[in-house]
Amino acid sequence: MVLIDGNKVAKEIKAEIAIEVNKIIEKRGNAPHLVAILVGHDGGSESYVNFKMKDCEEVGFKSSLIRFEEDATENELLNTIEKLNQDDSVDGFIVQLPLPSHIDENKVIEAIDPKKDVDGFHPMNVGKMMAGLPTFVSATPLGITILLRKYKIETSGKHCVILGRSNIVGRPMSVLMSQKEMNSTVTVLHSRSQNIKEICASADILIVAMGKPKFVTADMVKEGAVVIDVGTSRIKSDKTKSGFKLAGDVDFDNAAEKCSFITPVPGGVGPMTRLALLLNTLETAK
Ligand code: GUN
Repeated sequence: MVLIDGNKVAKEIKAEIAIEVNKIIEKRGNAPHLVAILVGHDGGSESYVNFKMKDCEEVGFKSSLIRFEEDATENELLNTIEKLNQDDSVDGFIVQLPLPSHIDENKVIEAIDPKKDVDGFHPMNVGKMMAGLPTFVSATPLGITILLRKYKIETSGKHCVILGRSNIVGRPMSVLMSQKEMNSTVTVLHSRSQNIKEICASADILIVAMGKPKFVTADMVKEGAVVIDVGTSRIKSDKTKSGFKLAGDVDFDNAAEKCSFITPVPGGVGPMTRLALLLNTLETAK
């Protein structure tokens, strides 16, 4: 069994990004600039955005955080997005999700200039990705494809089962895995699917993005399968400083020995999601 080391791969590619950043600074006089908008004080979102800002610093990007309180209006947010769309000093920006329920997430995403949409959430970019055209691909699916390539995992002709159909992970992942470069045969499972256990047990590559700790048990994993765990549930822990720890969707302790490759949580997909955002920002700055 090979433990896929997302931290190591992300670190290697970050060093390459830092070199590219220097070239960009030489050429145009300033570093790529990523802006993040954060609404409210959700614990998970706060920590993700902090990590994203820290990552920027590490590779030499400029980063800015725009904060709104929980009761910010949709219009305030849309006005800020319009300003960022027009601001030539901003290469790309993201609006951290989820947003408070009084704000229409789709409206916000559609307000972002697709050329600055480094999350790849705008319907224009989603459409281009579907059509196999160059575009910003959302960070987690992009990060996973980089890991699969780095570890030279054979995807062609393999049965790839994806658990979860979210716009951010499951659905775009299913498109990428079925496209020409990956050439997998893809099954997408979701909350209404039947025979989940049997279908998972037939997967050569199992990508799990449910947000349900230990949902995938050892009996759902085929001998020799590749398992990619996207789960990042925050569960209470008295062993960490923050009082939380991250839990994956796979029962790692029991499933790992059956796998040919498996990602741990933390340290598997998470660092690659963050890396992919840097890659998209680098691309738009170029
Ligand atoms: N919430 C969970 N994942 C993401 C992400 O990749 N980008 C943004 N903006 N919000 C998220």
